[in-house]
Amino acid sequence: MKKLLVLMLLFLVGGGYYIYKKEGKILPYYEQLTKNHVGIEVNLQDAAQKEAHFVGSAKCKKCHKDNYNEWSHSMHPKMIQDVKKDPSAIVANFLQLPKDANFKLKNIVYTIGGKFKQRYMLEKDFNGTKDYVVGNYQWNSQIHKWQHFDTWDYWYKNAYPHDDMKVPTSTTCDGCHFTGFMSKQKRVELGIACEVCHGPASEHVKNPKSAVYLASLVDPSRQNEVCLQCHMRNRDNRLKNQNMSSIYGDARDYPIGYEPGKSLAKLKMVAPFEMGHATGEFYANGAGKHNRTQGNEFVHSAMAKHGITCINCHNPHTLQPTAQHNTGNALCLKCHAFNSIIGPHEKSLEAHTHHKANSKGSLCVECHMPKVGRHAPGSPFTVRSHMFGFVTPAQTLKYGMPKKTNACYACHQDKTMKTLQNDLESWGMVGWDKR
Ligand code: HEC
Ligand code: HEC
Ligand code: HEC
Ligand code: HEC
Ligand code: HEC
Ligand code: HEC
Ligand code: HEC
Ligand code: HEC
Repeated sequence: MKKLLVLMLLFLVGGGYYIYKKEGKILPYYEQLTKNHVGIEVNLQDAAQKEAHFVGSAKCKKCHKDNYNEWSHSMHPKMIQDVKKDPSAIVANFLQLPKDANFKLKNIVYTIGGKFKQRYMLEKDFNGTKDYVVGNYQWNSQIHKWQHFDTWDYWYKNAYPHDDMKVPTSTTCDGCHFTGFMSKQKRVELGIACEVCHGPASEHVKNPKSAVYLASLVDPSRQNEVCLQCHMRNRDNRLKNQNMSSIYGDARDYPIGYEPGKSLAKLKMVAPFEMGHATGEFYANGAGKHNRTQGNEFVHSAMAKHGITCINCHNPHTLQPTAQHNTGNALCLKCHAFNSIIGPHEKSLEAHTHHKANSKGSLCVECHMPKVGRHAPGSPFTVRSHMFGFVTPAQTLKYGMPKKTNACYACHQDKTMKTLQNDLESWGMVGWDKR
C-alpha cells in the first residue's frame, strides 16, 4: 500500500513537472489569459469614482507607504518639476543657450522631462486664462546639445499658428504630464501620480472601503488602457468625423476625458498605420521611429494578442525594468522556458541564441527588443521596440529601416547585412514570417 502511494505521488509530481516543462511557466497566468472579454466600450469605473475628485498623492502616503515610496523614486513623479522649488531640476547648460531662443533661464516655470531631453514651460496668457507655452529650444541630454524645437510641428500643425508662442501646452501636452488634467482639465499635481492610474480618490480617502480602480483586476484587453492613455501616439478623437480646420486652435494630442476604467477606445483615435506602409511615425513593419510608441507597437505583438500586459513586465510603481534597472533574461524566463510550447523551441539558451550563454548576444532583449527609435533628431537609437518579434537583416533592408536598428548589425557593425543574414540562415532561424 505504501509503495503504491509513493508511486502515485511520484507519478503526480513527475506528471506535473512534465506539464510545467511542456507548457512553459505560463500556467500561473492562465486565469488572466482566459478571462471573459468585457468589450472595449464598456465603462468599468465604480459608481463611487464617478462623483469623486482628485486629491493628490500626499493624501495616500499615510496608508500606502510602500507604494508611495516605490513610486516617488520612479521617473513618473519627476516629469514636471517646479524650477522655483528645485533649481537643480534643470539639466541643460544655459551658457550655451542659442541667441535666438525665445526664453531665458529666469522665465522658466516648469521643466518637462530630462532623462533623454528637457523642454521648458513658460507662462503665457491666452484670452485671459493662465496657460503655458514651450520654449523654442530643447536640451538633448543624450548628446548634450541645444536643439531647435517647435511645439506646432506635429500631426496637428494645420490646427495651430506656426508660432511657438501661440501654441498652449493645455491642449498639446498637459493631459499626459500633469495629474488630473486629462479628465478634469486641472493641474492637480505635477507629474504622473497615483490617481492617473487609480482614478480620482476623494471618496476612498474618506472611506477606504469606497473603491478605486485597480487595473490588474480587469480583462487583460482593458488592463493596458491605464498605460496607453499616455504611452501611445494619437490623433484628436473628433477627427473620426470632423476635419482639422473645425478643431483649429483646440486640437488635442491626448484622450481628453479619460479616467481609469472609462473606455479609452471611445475617447481617442490611434495614430494611423497600415502594415507595409511607412509613415512619419512608424516603419513599414509597425515599429516606432520615435519615443512614446510602446502602445502602438505592443498591439501588433503576439504577446498582446495572447493577453500579456504592460504590468506583467513593469512594476507600475517602480516602473522597472528600465534601461538602468533591468533584471535581464530572468524577466522573460518568468513565462518562457526552453523547449516549451510558447518557445523558445530549442533545448537551451546557447542552442537558441547561437551565442555563448554569458555573451551579450544571449540577452533576450537585445534580439527581441532592438533599439529602433530615437528620442530627438541626432540622438542615438535607444528606444527599444515593444513588438517582441524578430526582424532579420533582410527584412530591415526590405522595410527601409536604418541598418543600425537591426539587432545583429547593432552589435556587429564590422560585418555586412548579407553576412549576418547568411549566419542566421545557417542557424535555420529565418522561419518567423513563414509560420
Ligand atoms: C485612511 C487610509 C487610506 C488612505 C488615505 C488611502 N487608502 Fe487606499 N486603501 C486603504 C485600505 C484600508 C485599502 C484596502 C481596502 C479593502 O481591501 O477594502 C486600500 C486599498 C487601495 C487600493 C487597492 C484597491 C483594490 O481594489 O484592491 C488602491 C489602488 C488604493 N487603495 C489607492 C489609494 C490612493 C491612490 C490613495 C490616495 C489618493 C489612497 N489609496 C488613500 C486605505 C487608504
Ligand atoms: C502608472 C500607473 C500607477 C501609478 C502612478 C500608481 N499606481 Fe498603484 N497600481 C497600479 C497598478 C496597475 C496596480 C496593480 C498591480 C498588480 O496588481 O499587480 C497598482 C496597485 C496598487 C495597490 C494595490 C496592490 C499593492 O501593490 O498593494 C495600491 C494600494 C496602490 N497601487 C497604490 C498606489 C499609490 C498610493 C500610488 C501613488 C503613490 C500609486 N499606486 C501609483 C498602477 C499605478
Ligand atoms: C499620465 C501619463 C502616463 C501614464 C498614465 C503612464 N505613464 Fe509611464 N511615463 C509617462 C511619462 C511622461 C514618462 C517620462 C517620465 C520622465 O522622463 O520623467 C513615463 C515613463 C515611463 C517609463 C520609463 C521610466 C524610466 O525610468 O525611464 C516606464 C517604464 C513607464 N512610464 C511605464 C508605464 C506603465 C507600465 C504605465 C501603466 C501602468 C504607465 N507608464 C502609465 C507618462 C505616463
Ligand atoms: C499622449 C500623451 C503625451 C502627450 C500629448 C505628450 N507627451 Fe511627452 N511624453 C509622453 C510619454 C508617455 C513620455 C515617456 C515615454 C517615452 O518617451 O517613450 C513622454 C516623454 C516626453 C519627454 C522626454 C522626457 C525625458 O525625461 O527625457 C519630453 C521632453 C516630453 N515628453 C515633452 C512633451 C511636450 C512638450 C508635449 C507637448 C507638445 C508632449 N510631451 C506631449 C506622453 C505624452
Ligand atoms: C514582455 C515584457 C514587457 C512588456 C509586456 C512591456 N515592456 Fe516596456 N520594457 C521592457 C523591458 C525589458 C524594457 C527595458 C529594456 C532595456 O532598455 O533594457 C522596457 C522599456 C520600456 C520603456 C522605456 C524605459 C527606458 O529606460 O527607456 C517604457 C516607457 C516602457 N517599457 C513602457 C511599456 C508600456 C507602456 C508597455 C505596455 C504597452 C510595456 N512597456 C510593455 C519589457 C516589457
Ligand atoms: C507574463 C508572461 C510573459 C513574459 C514575462 C514574457 N512573455 Fe513572451 N510570450 C508570452 C506569450 C503568452 C506568448 C505567445 C505565445 C504563442 O504565440 O504561442 C509570447 C510570445 C513571445 C515571442 C514570440 C512572438 C511571435 O511573434 O511569435 C517572443 C519573441 C517573446 N515572447 C519574447 C519575450 C521576451 C524577449 C520577453 C522578456 C522581455 C518575454 N517574451 C516575456 C508570455 C510572456
Ligand atoms: C548584444 C550584442 C549582440 C547581438 C544582438 C548579436 N551578437 Fe553576435 N556576437 C556578439 C558577441 C559579443 C560575440 C562574441 C562571441 C560570443 O559571445 O558568442 C558574437 C559572436 C557572433 C558570431 C560568431 C563569431 C563571429 O564574430 O563570427 C556570429 C556568427 C554572430 N555573433 C552573429 C550574430 C547574428 C546573426 C546576430 C543576430 C541574430 C547576432 N550575432 C546578434 C554580440 C551580439
Ligand atoms: C541572438 C538573437 C536572439 C536572442 C539573444 C534570443 N532570441 Fe529568441 N529568437 C531569435 C530568432 C532569430 C528567432 C526566430 C526563429 C525563427 O524564425 O525560426 C527567435 C524566436 C523566439 C521565439 C519564438 C518561438 C521560437 O522558438 O521560434 C521566442 C518565444 C523567443 N525567441 C524567446 C526568446 C527568449 C525568451 C530569449 C532569452 C532567453 C531569446 N529569445 C533570445 C533570436 C534570438
